[in-house]
Amino acid sequence: MKRLSTGVKKLDELLAGGIPQGFFVALTGMPGTGKTIACLHFIWAGLKEGERCIYVTTEESRESIVRQAEQFHMDFRSALEEDKLVIIDALMREKEDEWSLKEVSIEEMINKVISAKRLLRKNVTRLVIDSMSAFWLRAPAKAREESYVVKRILNKWHFTIYATSQYAITTGAAFGWGVEHIADGIIHFRRRLVNGMLRRYIVIEKMRQTPHDLRAWEIDIIDGVGLMLRRPLARRIEDEVLPEEVMRRIKRNIKSETRDDLVW
Ligand SMILES: Nc1ncnc2c1ncn2[C@@H]1O[C@H](COP(=O)(O)OP(=O)(O)O)[C@@H](O)[C@H]1O
Ligand SMILES: [Mg+2]
Repeated sequence: MKRLSTGVKKLDELLAGGIPQGFFVALTGMPGTGKTIACLHFIWAGLKEGERCIYVTTEESRESIVRQAEQFHMDFRSALEEDKLVIIDALMREKEDEWSLKEVSIEEMINKVISAKRLLRKNVTRLVIDSMSAFWLRAPAKAREESYVVKRILNKWHFTIYATSQYAITTGAAFGWGVEHIADGIIHFRRRLVNGMLRRYIVIEKMRQTPHDLRAWEIDIIDGVGLMLRRPLARRIEDEVLPEEVMRRIKRNIKSETRDDLVW
């Protein structure tokens, strides 16, 4: 089975080499948790291998995506100029822009993706849809049916797909009907305040045909570098089996460095 690199070395290791070719992978989680940055790594990994890629952005402009990538030394601008990358912009809706969506509909998005594939011609392997949630803001009931359409049509075109999905800030639950139900893989992103510090984590919740890692990993987003996996938050056995009072005393004495193991 061919696997595609995620562009994040440690994440590839946790996935037994990477994302199986042709998979539809959902990146889910609250805002600011690193989903878009993970998408940038995925695209950049493809571009570096000479693959051609398509990125649909619904929540940021094309320019914002290019600038964010630049901060991690990923040269999306040259790739755009050389017709190796198309960024379909569903936010700015500029009439004269060929790769702008006029309305945020699944149908128009699929048509544009197919046109982009024609322009890029050979070796178009990776597609990012960031985010899918934007298509169903006004009609959450459509999400279920249209998710199937997206998967069916785009699968035929042999893309390996990253699709992000927003989770509600208030409840942490998926916004409406998420794309997880049709996904071959799910990588969940989350965040927590630990001792007054923002910490971010990812966990591979699902990856078909893959003996993947099951732990939550703390991630760092580093200027000039991007997303890095820092360490797993494996629960220790003594947290599970000691009497409650003993556990409480241990927790009280635990150093701040390990305290976040208890809040996941
Ligand atoms: N150059 C940078 N250096 C360090 N952290 C950054 C940089 N650029 C963005 N970030 C961090 O990444 C976050 C945005 O991540 P993003 O992937 O856009 O989130 P999501 O798509 O899940 O909403 C920012 O809130 C910031 O904390
Ligand atoms: Mg985002």
